[in-house]
Amino acid sequence: MPTAGSPDDLLAAALGARERTYSPYSGYAVGAALRDELGRIHAAPNVENAAYPQGQCAEASAIGVLIAAGGRRVTEALVVADPAAGLPSPCGGCRQRLREFMPLDASIHLAGPAGVIRTVTLGELLPLSFGPEFLLGRTSR
Ligand code: THU
Repeated sequence: MPTAGSPDDLLAAALGARERTYSPYSGYAVGAALRDELGRIHAAPNVENAAYPQGQCAEASAIGVLIAAGGRRVTEALVVADPAAGLPSPCGGCRQRLREFMPLDASIHLAGPAGVIRTVTLGELLPLSFGPEFLLGRTSR
């Protein structure tokens, strides 16, 4: 079941992280916030690099923060960026990164600084996906 409730706390955390973005090359500031299985929120911004491919999306950064804090699952996610550039949404690589830790029916909130614009599930963003249960033999995700 998608996690119910207001994503206001996720938005606040993601906006705080976005304030600390290191994105001098693209100028595109992103914040991501993830709720873990204990209800804790982990947030991070995108981190770019002069060697462009070494840059890291906000979602990838936030997954690292969650894992470092001892989290193991993502129950709800939010990504915030400037909606004037188009509806903020996780890139393909980050959809797969989230797939490792998040149920397909869990919610991902797509937000601008003023609030959530649209909420989708991971399964909607990543249909017919490949995930850890293919390799680990799990059945319920
Ligand atoms: N970016 C993210 O942080 N998350 C996404 O899902 C889309 C892209 C970042 C990467 C890069 O720092 C900047 O946005 C422009 O691509």
